[in-house]
Amino acid sequence: MSSNKTVVLVTGSSKGGIGFSLCEEFASRGCTVYATARRLEAMEGFSQPNIHTLSLDVTSDESVQKAVETIIEREGRIDVLINNAGLGNTGAIIDVPMDEIVRMFDTNVYAVIRMAKAVIPHMAARKSGTIVNVGSIAGEIPVPWGGIYGATKAALHSLTETLYMECKPLDINVVLLAPGGVKSNIANNQAPRFKLPENSLYSAYIDSMLAKLTMSQRGNSMPAEQFSQQVVSAVLKPQPPRYMTLASMSGMYKVLKWLPRTWVLNMFWRRLGEGPRLAALKNRK
Ligand SMILES: NC(=O)c1ccc[n+]([C@@H]2O[C@H](COP(=O)([O-])OP(=O)(O)OC[C@H]3O[C@@H](n4cnc5c(N)ncnc54)[C@H](OP(=O)(O)O)[C@@H]3O)[C@@H](O)[C@H]2O)c1
Repeated sequence: MSSNKTVVLVTGSSKGGIGFSLCEEFASRGCTVYATARRLEAMEGFSQPNIHTLSLDVTSDESVQKAVETIIEREGRIDVLINNAGLGNTGAIIDVPMDEIVRMFDTNVYAVIRMAKAVIPHMAARKSGTIVNVGSIAGEIPVPWGGIYGATKAALHSLTETLYMECKPLDINVVLLAPGGVKSNIANNQAPRFKLPENSLYSAYIDSMLAKLTMSQRGNSMPAEQFSQQVVSAVLKPQPPRYMTLASMSGMYKVLKWLPRTWVLNMFWRRLGEGPRLAALKNRK
């Protein structure tokens, strides 16, 4: 069994993503870190010896159980769980294949319940622990072409708020992290899965969809290292915040949440639906 260093489990820690950077940051603060992802080779390149890699597919009960048991056997506990693994997507709701929708809900929502079922009993036994669920500003206000992703994150936000309450008697902290744009592989990872069906009712909006695909990765999106420094500082506090939002567009969303919903949805449709389509038409003339 290891020392009394904080033991952190991070899901979705492939190189180039937010999870990888969070692992590096927790390790730099002296934590014992379990970086996990579906493929061990996707996590090559960590710079610190206190980061251990384990394979964990968050959509598999067996894989989750095995990884959690391995850490409990080695360390005796998990102090911090970061539910970071996630799948993005772009496309009109009725154009996304059903199997892709099911896979996204499994990865972004059911997986967090699966992880909670496996980890909470261990935290409850010690009456301490922190669970951080990585949601998104897209879970707060949906945008065109991001309907499935937004729905998964909205469901995750709701689950996290209930977990926050239900974990009170167990002395477990629950943090909802709602990032704005952070530099990662999220756009590269979803690009190969984007396909406009031949008979789509939205063919005229292909330029708008392509613009949405890379929206979180544009100019002022936050470097993952800077994001991780702020998140890890908050999570390691004796009393972590219940809710945290940061990175590009998060300030704008704070304001938009207070404005009339109909105005906000119409504004997003003009900017992300019609706007890029009309601009592309103009350029082609
Ligand atoms: N980047 C942003 O601007 C942004 C904004 C808001 C919220 N977020 C959220 O932040 C989290 C991290 O995303 P990211 O931006 O770092 O994207 P990313 O680079 O695409 O990383 C996603 C990670 O999730 C992993 N993953 C996917 N399916 C998995 C599964 N079944 N089991 C285990 N791991 C799985 C991926 O592993 P593979 O390498 O195996 O695919 C990868 O490590 C996600 O929850 C995302 O929704 C990101």
